[in-house]
Amino acid sequence: MLEDITRYSGERFLRVGAHSHVKGLGLEGLKAKFAGDGLVGQVEAREAAGIIVKMIKEGKMAGRAVLFAGPPGTGKTAIACAIARELGRDVPFVTMSGSEIYSSELKKTEILTQAMRKAIGVRLRERRRVYEGEVFQLDVKTRRHPYNPYQEVPDHVVIGLVTKDDRRVLRAGATIASYILSQGITVGDVITIDAETGRVTRVGRSEEAAERYDIAVVDERPVPRPGGPVEKEKEFIYVLTLHDLDQLSAQSRSGGLLSLFFGAPPTREIDNEVRREVDEMVKRRVEEGTAEIIPGVLFIDEVHLLDIEAFSFLNAAMESELAPIIILATNRGMTKIRGTDMISPHGIPLDLLDRMLIISTRPYTRDEIRKILEIRAAEEKARLKAEALEKLTDIGEQTTLRYAVQLLTPSQIIARENGNEEITPGDVEIAVKLFSDVRRSVQELEKWKDKYMY
Ligand SMILES: Nc1ncnc2c1ncn2[C@@H]1O[C@H](COP(=O)(O)OP(=O)(O)OP(=O)(O)O)[C@@H](O)[C@H]1O
Ligand SMILES: [Mg+2]
Repeated sequence: MLEDITRYSGERFLRVGAHSHVKGLGLEGLKAKFAGDGLVGQVEAREAAGIIVKMIKEGKMAGRAVLFAGPPGTGKTAIACAIARELGRDVPFVTMSGSEIYSSELKKTEILTQAMRKAIGVRLRERRRVYEGEVFQLDVKTRRHPYNPYQEVPDHVVIGLVTKDDRRVLRAGATIASYILSQGITVGDVITIDAETGRVTRVGRSEEAAERYDIAVVDERPVPRPGGPVEKEKEFIYVLTLHDLDQLSAQSRSGGLLSLFFGAPPTREIDNEVRREVDEMVKRRVEEGTAEIIPGVLFIDEVHLLDIEAFSFLNAAMESELAPIIILATNRGMTKIRGTDMISPHGIPLDLLDRMLIISTRPYTRDEIRKILEIRAAEEKARLKAEALEKLTDIGEQTTLRYAVQLLTPSQIIARENGNEEITPGDVEIAVKLFSDVRRSVQELEKWKDKYMY
């Protein structure tokens, strides 16, 4: 789900699923187990993250931000990923890298605004009057097209609906008739018809009908025939994000309501006027009790890539009522804030730093490195001889954990080619020769510097 955005091209190799072994924070209460849910060591940072998860769940984090700061490969992105897992599917968790704000099509502030609004969920409840049941009779009457006598158009429909307890025959107009035709609804389908809009939704094939008529059920699981009366009030729950609502409302404004069903291209820039109206609608519905706001998380990795403009925008946006929780991560120490000549810790302006909870990650110990490599190897179904694991652990200690993790897949391929069932230290050595870590690559650059093009 989370993608690790890496800077060194050599690292692209393992990009997909670099954190797939991370299932959670591995806590017992507020205490971190040495190894749990795929995470190893980094105990204080994980326990701090656990408290953040609690604060988020209790709604005490709104308008605040957390910063993960630490050297490369110390698990900042992995722990952010674990936070997302702990929060569960219902809490929106949006991930971006600082570099994503630089686009030729959209303004930086627009990209940030969209990301922030994707991180706020809205659960909308709606009671609607519907007709629901299994179709037992269907008769679409057509008539001549008013302008084209050779074409028939739906005129009205007579439709019989049956539930476990009720049975009704309805006569409906052209709108419903054409919905029914366009969705290919037949006798035996379970459908709902919205009483107000006439919108017809096919729920599925009824179990009874599937048994009675269908020779082979086409990969679709039949649904039970509904109970109760055909005409009823039903509650529908939709979970959308503020950004979804912005898009829906921008599109319906531009007259393209139908495009919603056919996946219209996303509107590029959204009017602030549209956003204001959406906010008002949501607030009104929250007061009425028909909507609930689910504040989520916006995770900005490599946050030092943001510039001063983006930082001031974030600072202001965090004040707004409908702001998500913001989690940032960086591996920079004292460095220039992009777009200025000012040096600041982590390249982040002091006023923004000041309102953040900072969680530090530290380099791993040998035991931690070994254990992480073991977990990663299992995840990638790579089998290692004990000496090969020690060799990789040495490498992780001397260079970076990420480099050692990256070597697993190439070593595995080399081992297979060499006819080894388990990766041997020799296979690892070959992988090390073929792929440089960053420091070695810089040394190479130095060595050959007069041969490069400038
Ligand atoms: N404590 C840990 N337990 C298990 N796996 C870990 C742990 N820390 C890091 N890893 C794994 O090691 C690799 C590197 O870690 P990660 O990408 O999280 O580092 P990072 O701190 O975000 O580095 P960078 O500053 O370069 O972005 C990833 O595959 C990650 O899942
Ligand atoms: Mg990272």
